[in-house]
Amino acid sequence: MPFGLVSAWNKRRRSKSHDHSDPWVYKPAEHWQIEEQTPRATKRHHGSSVFTLREMEVATGSFREENFLGKGGFGRVYRGTLPSGEVVAIKKMELAPFKEAEGELEFRVEVDILSRLDHPNLVTLVGYCADGKDRFLVYEYMKNGNLQDHLNGIGEAKMDWPKRLRVAIGAAKGLAYLHSSTAIGMPIVHRDFKSTNILLDTNFEAKISDFGLAKFMPEGQEIYVTARVLGTFGYFDPEYTSTGKLTLQSDVYAFGVVLLELLTGRRAVDLNLGPNDQNLVLQVRHILNDRKKLRKVIDPELSRSSYTMESIAMFANLASRCVRVESSERPSMEECVKELQLIIYTNSKGLGGVTYTFRKLY
Ligand SMILES: Nc1ncnc2c1ncn2[C@@H]1O[C@H](COP(=O)(O)OP(=O)(O)OP(=O)(O)O)[C@@H](O)[C@H]1O
Ligand SMILES: [Mg+2]
Repeated sequence: MPFGLVSAWNKRRRSKSHDHSDPWVYKPAEHWQIEEQTPRATKRHHGSSVFTLREMEVATGSFREENFLGKGGFGRVYRGTLPSGEVVAIKKMELAPFKEAEGELEFRVEVDILSRLDHPNLVTLVGYCADGKDRFLVYEYMKNGNLQDHLNGIGEAKMDWPKRLRVAIGAAKGLAYLHSSTAIGMPIVHRDFKSTNILLDTNFEAKISDFGLAKFMPEGQEIYVTARVLGTFGYFDPEYTSTGKLTLQSDVYAFGVVLLELLTGRRAVDLNLGPNDQNLVLQVRHILNDRKKLRKVIDPELSRSSYTMESIAMFANLASRCVRVESSERPSMEECVKELQLIIYTNSKGLGGVTYTFRKLY
């Protein structure tokens, strides 16, 4: 039970300090004020653990360079080994002082949301550390890193079309679960869905990560209006950026961008290209339903024997609908899952081996 652990640990902290106005004094989850109306239900089968700074140091060999996995906006990520022998990924919060308050909120949202979710296509939060001013997030270790690295040739294994389709459907199922009320009783919008936040396990099974910007969308309040637009350049829903109206469909737009990355092997934004070609959606949107022109944008790294043009055309059509400017014209994530099942079936059948069987949605 994560909240039991948080409270127990908090009692320990409170006994050291009575200054409740200090933002660095750890408060129980009930006081985090992420969303006052959120239910306290938990879906996790196993709770997340609370670690000390010392335990984080021991796990990573004092953050040794050889354990360094990568760096993002929040800080560095290291591979670590817990006393149980479990290999984990440890994300260390390293922010400039003026960004610390924002980082703290993201940290709390991440712990709060992720410790309540349980789905094979969402990364598991093993635990966290909030020791003094130090903050760490401890995740299950994803051996094959993030999707973007594979599409850009940093990962060793080339991803053929069936593998890419499996990643697409895995990510779609993860998002569909978040958007459904089955997760915690109300839909959640991820807000930072992108190819670096799709992690791949040993079998190239996709798991969504980074929930720091996620938001609960209670029934009847499916639209959240904000003056501050958060997310990543290249994945922004144009309706959200122009009106501030955040909906679940903003994730669908970002999902469409990832589909285009899978199809073309290009980045969502490539600053090495000329100003008119930098944005992937703007670059390819108009040709997605034109089979002849479509051939020209298929990732040249894709082995020709791994795909049928029929499945590529269906995939491009789905992507084109996900990135529509009008959010109401985009499909839901549940519809995306169903269409991807059909695309996988079509590709497999076209290649002469129907090995795919329809499974349940989530
Ligand atoms: N659970 C994990 N297992 C293995 N590697 C991970 C894990 N989590 C993150 N990484 C790696 O650590 C690196 C940094 O990840 P991080 O999420 O901090 O940044 P990002 O998603 O690349 O960028 P941003 O901070 O802008 O969202 C990535 O290269 C990612 O592959
Ligand atoms: Mg990330």
